[in-house]
Amino acid sequence: MGKGNIVLCGFMGCGKTSIGKRVAKLIGQEFCDLDKYIEKKEGMTVSAIFQQYGEKGFRQRENQAVREVARRQDLVVACGGGTVLFPENVVALHEGGGTILYLQVPLAALQERLKADTQRPLLQKPNRREVIAQLYEKRCPLYEAAADRVVMAGAPAVVVAKEIGRMFL
Ligand code: S3P
Repeated sequence: MGKGNIVLCGFMGCGKTSIGKRVAKLIGQEFCDLDKYIEKKEGMTVSAIFQQYGEKGFRQRENQAVREVARRQDLVVACGGGTVLFPENVVALHEGGGTILYLQVPLAALQERLKADTQRPLLQKPNRREVIAQLYEKRCPLYEAAADRVVMAGAPAVVVAKEIGRMFL
């Protein structure tokens, strides 16, 4: 695999953060969670950014964060669930030689994992299972298109992280 950042993308709840942290540890690279990066920079939570500036305001901040993080070469990056839906983000992430991995998890597992979530603004709706199903259908082809590789990620984070770690050691 090429050098550069290892970038994890995929649906909310697919394990980008928990798997990413473990991959970083396994291969001795620094971990960067894009949402946390934005929160630190803005001094606000993602929820508060959505509330105050709307999704558009969040996406602008996310794009700026992507461009900053993509300049680095030595990171394991956990994207947000929407990051690679925007072609300019994919271009920026690839430019530094980053490899994008799509963590694919079946819809039913995601619905189960996300059923009690209170942090993700897009899911704070009464018909959550349906919202997730619709977003999933729309987004899956875009994750696939953005990714250099698809990783089946339904297994526990430790297992998936080891598999990814092996690709980069
Ligand atoms: C989003 C996913 C979130 C966060 C924001 C928008 C999305 O990240 O960036 O709430 O559009 O799917 P996680 O995938 O880490 O929850």
